[in-house]
Amino acid sequence: MNTDEITRRNALLGLAALGASGVVASGSTSNTSSNAVLTQEDLGWDDATSKYTLPDLPYAYDALNTVIDEQTMRIHHDMHHAGYVKGLNNALSKLNLIRWDQGDDSLIQHWQRQLSFHMGGHINHTLYWSGMQSEFSGGGGQPDGNLAHMIKNSFGSFGKFAKQFKLAATKVEGSGWAWLVYEPLSKQLMVTQMQNQQDMMFTGAIPLLGVDVWEHAYYLKYQNKRANYIDGFMRVINWTEVSKRFERARI
Ligand SMILES: [Fe+2]
Repeated sequence: MNTDEITRRNALLGLAALGASGVVASGSTSNTSSNAVLTQEDLGWDDATSKYTLPDLPYAYDALNTVIDEQTMRIHHDMHHAGYVKGLNNALSKLNLIRWDQGDDSLIQHWQRQLSFHMGGHINHTLYWSGMQSEFSGGGGQPDGNLAHMIKNSFGSFGKFAKQFKLAATKVEGSGWAWLVYEPLSKQLMVTQMQNQQDMMFTGAIPLLGVDVWEHAYYLKYQNKRANYIDGFMRVINWTEVSKRFERARI
């Protein structure tokens, strides 16, 4: 088995494991037998090379200009997100070599952490981009239907959810995220904090909506006023997309 075959085999096993966690499904999101909120295609998986690629933004760089400026979007997507994709492919490659006795076993802890960080970064940003929409084309407001009902059940009201989500995001220590997640065992929605790209998330949580509070997401426009950026983020949430994720998550 050559290195390319090893890469492909291990990467496919990795995707299967992620699918089991409720994040990634193979094929189309129209596959209603899966509770995954993303597909291989969403993540730019390339079967031919067995590597991830960086998908384009689902809108123009200046589409969210009232809340997030074009320069921030360009740097964030084209450099930061691209860096996570590159780091993810590299970590997978290094772990494959170790697995097949062609790498340095002493570095497995390092590369496993790199995999967690960069895979987290790739998934988080993919969810982030498609979780937003211009406030002039439907972004913001409140969800309706089943998601609205579940938010009321889980948090008491939309206002109470929004308060907790914004507070959690504002108070992330250092770089990280706040998430609205579906917890499939108790069948409840929860708000979580995440540090870096992966820490503090618990097993089985299915991410529905995330706000990136790394400084690279807002500093050019908002400087140290993270709370103002989060207030703006609430005005561009794509609740239609978040509702679709919720319906898939609870299958
Ligand atoms: Fe980011």
